[in-house]
Amino acid sequence: MATAQLYVLCAVLCATLAEDLKLKSKAATKPVRLFTEEELKRYDGSEEGQPIYMAVKGVVFDVTKGREFYGKDAPYNALVGKDSTRAVAKMSLDPADLTSDTTGLTEEQLKSLDSIFEGTYKTKYPIVGYTASRILNEDGSPNRDFKPEDQPHFQIKDEF
Ligand code: HEM
Repeated sequence: MATAQLYVLCAVLCATLAEDLKLKSKAATKPVRLFTEEELKRYDGSEEGQPIYMAVKGVVFDVTKGREFYGKDAPYNALVGKDSTRAVAKMSLDPADLTSDTTGLTEEQLKSLDSIFEGTYKTKYPIVGYTASRILNEDGSPNRDFKPEDQPHFQIKDEF
């Protein structure tokens, strides 16, 4: 009888523990914010007091603290409110380069892009979301290979 009672107790304890672990692992996979081009455009620094966002490689960064670079009338304002991957890779402010398109970039430009992405943007600015092109496939279905960027030195920002 005592063995049966012990067995029941163990079963209950295990079930509770499993439920707890399940809840914890659910909390760890927070939803990420998906930005359309139109949404990203709203954060182009033109409105005082609004955050300033910019995407590189489909990752949307909050660059508000770099206001002296990116704010209204600042030298790199053209880069914000959009995905400026090509401009960053080429170090160019040519309007034709203000795009996520990386077609035809040289090895050197792609290397430079990665080093600025890691060394400046991921290190200095918190990630607030991802562009549709990074999260979805071309047909609009979820990209199963999508993985949020690791950025442990920042808190994930909830801004819905
Ligand atoms: C003669 C040309 C240029 C000079 C002398 C120059 C110089 C500088 C300097 C001194 C900084 C500040 C670094 C700091 O205080 O942390 C800076 C930042 C920056 N530059 Fe340039 N720059 C030039 C051209 C460009 C071009 C063409 C681009 C186009 C993409 C560009 C993109 C940036 C960006 C995005 C930042 C800010 C990075 C951040 O958020 O920390 N620069 N530049």
